[in-house]
Amino acid sequence: MKQSEMDTKVVCGVTLRKDPARESCFKVVDTDAQMVAWPDMSPQSRRERLHRHMNNEITSLDIAAQCLADFPDAPWDLRMQLARQAWDESRHVTALHRRLKEIGGFKGEFPVANFEWTVTCILDSLVGRLTLQNRTFEAGAMDLMARLPGKWREAGDGETADLLDSIAADEIQHVRFANQWIRKLTSEDKRLLFKVAHAVRFLAEVNAAFAPAPGETNVVGQVIANAGQVAPINAADRELAEFSDEEIAEVLRQAGFPALVPRQEAQA
Ligand SMILES: [Fe+2]
Ligand SMILES: [Fe+2]
Repeated sequence: MKQSEMDTKVVCGVTLRKDPARESCFKVVDTDAQMVAWPDMSPQSRRERLHRHMNNEITSLDIAAQCLADFPDAPWDLRMQLARQAWDESRHVTALHRRLKEIGGFKGEFPVANFEWTVTCILDSLVGRLTLQNRTFEAGAMDLMARLPGKWREAGDGETADLLDSIAADEIQHVRFANQWIRKLTSEDKRLLFKVAHAVRFLAEVNAAFAPAPGETNVVGQVIANAGQVAPINAADRELAEFSDEEIAEVLRQAGFPALVPRQEAQA
């Protein structure tokens, strides 16, 4: 699907895919400054963390499902992986919603943002979307999930910690199949490396545009942490069409894709 065929929105000067549909109970916002978040593990902070995570899982479901709709000609086995991912994410949403209600929360209690959807789904290639959603955002979430259950256990909530552990087990597969398919697709068609490089570069630009000012606060007066987003990649500031092979290799290396770098460049 071409970008010209998509509904878009402009946030912080960047054109992004317009938000997916949400139930009317949700207040959808664009930036961390418009969100509610506390750094502690107080009851309201716990509810907000689960509420935010629940919406992030809905967003993962939306992205996988939209890839199926936008790329009907993708290889069948890849489409099956995306369909399985959509099923996994729907279970994650249900489980988090159940736990949210058990600790006294409810749908729409806090604002939600669909950052990953708006950035990923503006891309016009499936390999680009797998690069951002699965290989970057979900891999980042996987890193985070290695630490999060311990935080909940320390706070005395072993039940939520166990739930997060079980979700993390599924996320590994979402990152793995994307890595396998990115490798396969780019080895069959080297031009797709441009799509990978473009996706990585685009995310760096979005992250730079969205970065909070030092000391900037959210709507409950808490200083915004920039930890939820991937660190910008220091790519060459040339237009994509002018990238040399070496420049693409450098972007790929910095993005954590050394396996995609042609051998002699990897050794250079
Ligand atoms: Fe998930
Ligand atoms: Fe996932």
